[in-house]
Amino acid sequence: MVNHSQTVFDVTASTYDKDRARLIPGHDRFYGWAVGLIPADARRILDLGAGSGGLTALVRKAFPEAQIHLLDFSAPMLELANQRLGDDAGVTYEVGDYTRAKLPKGLDAIVSALSIHHLDDADKPQLFVRAHEALKPGGVFLNADQVLGPTPELEARYKALWLAQVRENGATEQQIRDSLYRQQEDRCATVEQQLQWMRDAGFADADCWFKDNRFAVMAGTKAA
Ligand SMILES: C[S@@+](CC[C@H](N)C(=O)[O-])C[C@H]1O[C@@H](n2cnc3c(N)ncnc32)[C@H](O)[C@@H]1O
Repeated sequence: MVNHSQTVFDVTASTYDKDRARLIPGHDRFYGWAVGLIPADARRILDLGAGSGGLTALVRKAFPEAQIHLLDFSAPMLELANQRLGDDAGVTYEVGDYTRAKLPKGLDAIVSALSIHHLDDADKPQLFVRAHEALKPGGVFLNADQVLGPTPELEARYKALWLAQVRENGATEQQIRDSLYRQQEDRCATVEQQLQWMRDAGFADADCWFKDNRFAVMAGTKAA
């Protein structure tokens, strides 16, 4: 199946930020867990699929001394990140596909939010291997993402619950339609499968630290 994720984000970049808070039930706790799992002494951080910089801005606030590199294949999304983060010598931007781009080495943390579920399943474990290689010993890989229900029944319940949650959150029918349009490009994998791929890649303590319906925060450490 052809992957149209880049086009989808290029086209919907302008509405993405406005929609985000309403379309991610448990938004603050989800992102809070993602930032909270980064080692306190992290100085070199890579954000995979940084998009409009929603996660990056929180990381920046918690790690004002860190060098943060944003990698994303949608130039319009990175442009929004640049507007959000402003003039900051500690922040660098790269337009590129992270399944192919050379990742910086010796990183303290690799973070990613709501992005890796756009990859085909064959590409996810390869990315986890490359993330493991790019980290320093003791470095952390953190993936805050949408996951697949472990059974078709649970997947159907995830969908129904998400619709009820976002309507309760005040999402408009247009916002829901835009989100469903983006979701055409989703290729979610289960938590169990992703933790196994992380362990196979060499992560010592892969675990899921937070989960609210299909929104999960998974992390693993490269052994010191
Ligand atoms: C839903 S947005 C999330 C943005 C941001 N991380 C956040 O939490 O708000 C997903 C981002 O991943 C990017 N993306 C998806 N697949 C990618 C790939 N293979 N290489 C680079 N960027 C990718 C998209 O362009 C998009 O900006």
